[in-house]
Amino acid sequence: MIAIGNDHTGYEMKMAIIEYLEKNGIEYKDFGCGKVDASDYPVYAKAVCKAIQNKECDKGILICGTGIGISITANKMKGIRCALCHDCFSAEATRLHNDANVLAMGARVIGIGHAIKIVDTFLNTEFSNQERHIRRIEMMEED
Ligand code: RB5
Repeated sequence: MIAIGNDHTGYEMKMAIIEYLEKNGIEYKDFGCGKVDASDYPVYAKAVCKAIQNKECDKGILICGTGIGISITANKMKGIRCALCHDCFSAEATRLHNDANVLAMGARVIGIGHAIKIVDTFLNTEFSNQERHIRRIEMMEED
């Protein structure tokens, strides 16, 4: 189950991603926002990440204007590894190396077609499970 959320800048991109998810039979839960003039990205980052923390969803997708505010918020939450990716190489690498569980993108940075390719790469790449990557991920949680 994929959790998806966005602020006002990301609504159109979110809807295109939802269309991709539906076409591919991928289950999702939409945490908003809907079509509004303005909204606060931390609200949606926290809703998506809480759904991952409580295991309601396995992975998340977050969109704001740059992808920065929403990814910073997500990465403050325990157990969340949110990767801001604007290219497929990074989306693949962050799944292989970081076991990223949330993908963030900036709707003002890249086009919708590119974003869909990035989502496709992110969702279809498994974690490598290599010992050195497991060790580094565990180190992230240490004080
Ligand atoms: C909203 O104007 C914008 O600040 C937000 O979408 C995001 O880019 C913040 O990081």
